Amino acid sequence: MQNFVQYTPTEVIFGKGTETQTGKEVKKHGGSKVLLVYGGGSAVRSGLIGRVEQSLQEEGIAWEEFGGVQPNPRLAFAEEGVQKALALGADFILAVGGGSAIDTAKAIAHGAANPGEKLWDIWTQKVPLTKSLPVAAVLTIPAAGSEMSDSAVLTNEAIGKKAGINTPFNRCRFAVMNPELAATLPAYQIACGVTDIMMHTMERYFIPGIQCEMTDCIAEGLLRTVISNGPKVLTNPGDYDAMAEIMWCGSLSHNNLTECGRGKDFSVHKLGHALSAKYDVAHGASLASVWGSWARYLYQDQALYRFVQYAEKVWGISHDGKSDEEVALAGIEKTEEFFRSLGMPVSLTQLGVQPDEEALRHLSLDATMGGTVKLTRIRPLGAEQVNEIYRMAM
Ligand code: NZQ
Ligand code: ZN
Repeated sequence: MQNFVQYTPTEVIFGKGTETQTGKEVKKHGGSKVLLVYGGGSAVRSGLIGRVEQSLQEEGIAWEEFGGVQPNPRLAFAEEGVQKALALGADFILAVGGGSAIDTAKAIAHGAANPGEKLWDIWTQKVPLTKSLPVAAVLTIPAAGSEMSDSAVLTNEAIGKKAGINTPFNRCRFAVMNPELAATLPAYQIACGVTDIMMHTMERYFIPGIQCEMTDCIAEGLLRTVISNGPKVLTNPGDYDAMAEIMWCGSLSHNNLTECGRGKDFSVHKLGHALSAKYDVAHGASLASVWGSWARYLYQDQALYRFVQYAEKVWGISHDGKSDEEVALAGIEKTEEFFRSLGMPVSLTQLGVQPDEEALRHLSLDATMGGTVKLTRIRPLGAEQVNEIYRMAM
């Protein structure tokens, strides 16, 4: 087991009706002027924004709304939010929504605390981030895990680049998680969320050479829980108990718990972000479309035992005379079968994109930072190898 620091400071307020506690929580965490960041309208239509605002009012907290965050949230919109936060004199940024609203809130917090700096310079760490405003979330979709993660992702439309920043300043002070709020989710978003949650766990699992039995057990248990409850919430998003399992898994999958002692990889995310930047496809779907090809490209040699363990512990596949390779491949096939059963794409064609040679080259360079970064902790993949994986995914 490698040395690690486990720092997960977000206070979790989980369960039915918990959004009514939002005002009290903001006050407890020092907020008195709040910028309320939300998406394209689902939280308004469901009455959630009204309930959150009432709870702010009851605590004598001032607020202004900043709605309209799009999925794959844009840098330019976050910059607008920074101006709005500064004009208000906001001392707290509250997101109501999913990864897109929460990541925009995080960006606004960083920008408003550093008004002299360009937000993209902070994002790309040209300018070191040394202070930010406090951020919190009322979660409406179990998926990105941003409510407890140290990361945030924005798309810079001007240069066609989707990029993330990891910093302790990205940790929400608190996260209100009421599984009832996810009951209005469309099936496609649920499927994307379930996929993303699995992927956050798997991106920390397929790293060979380091023994971490406890961390493995957490990851395998989390994946089994998602696999058994995902189909239930897909057919009935109002199944409270199943949605509660998925929502809790979503947060635990990306709050670093499943990387203790081993760290993370996140190479599939790099491939997915390049696809989302170019084609504006949903995050979870982008990951499902390439994961199988990524896995088939890498499952042999030193990573083989990880894929075998995954097949056995997560999918219950036994050897029964099969070779290690066959067991590993059966685990990969089971995973793709599961994604398909959710309605997720398992190829680029199913994702609805058909990159030509030039686009493939562009995607491979984007995923590897212009060819300067090698992906995966299984074996180093440059732009050329990433290109081959995209080709396999077609
Ligand atoms: O905008 P509204 O109208 O709210 O609709 C949203 C949006 O269209 C809808 N939705 C959310 N909650 C709903 C609902 N519709 C009905 N009822 C509800 N209760 O769902 C759609 C997707 O929302 P979004 O916030 O984009 O989803 P998600 O949570 O999957 O976030 C995806 C973004 O997070 C980033 C992704 O790259 C992507 O940009 N990620 C952020 C991470 C982080 N900060 O730690 C890690 C992840 O790996 C990921 O990269
Ligand atoms: Zn993700």
